[in-house]
Amino acid sequence: MAYQTGSEVSADEYNKIWSGAWSTGTTRWDKGDVSPALRELIEDKQWVLPSGQGIVPGCGRGYDAMFLARPGLHMVGADLSPLAVEAASKLRDDKGISSQLVSFAVTDFFNFKIPDEKYQVAYDYTFFCAIHPSMRADWGARYAQIMSPGGHLIALMYPLQKAEEARGRGPPFMVTEDSYHDVLDNNFELIHIDSNCQTHDTRVGEEIITVWRRK
Ligand SMILES: C[S@@+](CC[C@H](N)C(=O)[O-])C[C@H]1O[C@@H](n2cnc3c(N)ncnc32)[C@H](O)[C@@H]1O
Repeated sequence: MAYQTGSEVSADEYNKIWSGAWSTGTTRWDKGDVSPALRELIEDKQWVLPSGQGIVPGCGRGYDAMFLARPGLHMVGADLSPLAVEAASKLRDDKGISSQLVSFAVTDFFNFKIPDEKYQVAYDYTFFCAIHPSMRADWGARYAQIMSPGGHLIALMYPLQKAEEARGRGPPFMVTEDSYHDVLDNNFELIHIDSNCQTHDTRVGEEIITVWRRK
């Protein structure tokens, strides 16, 4: 993968990779647009999103958060990097999208104050694979904490590999369908899966879109 560091990193070190990537402008994961699978789910398959408040952790330049935002659904794009938040906010302003619809905030997904009403929608893409595998259980527990009952976690699985190949170096850290089941099944029910979803050209065969309902 383009943003592979070439060496295994500890959980403590991984966030330095992200601030370093943003400060040097090496954001080669960035496809410059909404994920095709998400657009297809919402526009073609007419997936009905709950209203309320949504979050996109590790939002980068915020394309997906901006796409999901709509009257009745305020989206928050959350990223560890101030440079990411700055870029996303500028893009939103350039597009003339109101901050009433989508806001961006410097946020550590694993440690921020959860609003009383929690989140009714979350979108996770290239975030699960961005965190160290040792943090995956915390990732699942954190989504369980921040989502309201009945809330929809849309997880675009990526980069999918066969189990025996899904180890090793990153980020991105390779994933399997089981990587998600292992940490979500206790608190979420899988209510939609599409393994033939549209993908970015360079990611064909590596993505499956899923929706998980908070129990
Ligand atoms: C691979 S990039 C993906 C960005 C975006 N989702 C996209 O597809 O363009 C991962 C992003 O997660 C952010 N990130 C990493 N750890 C984070 C954390 N603990 N909380 C919030 N954001 C984090 C990084 O700064 C980076 O922008």
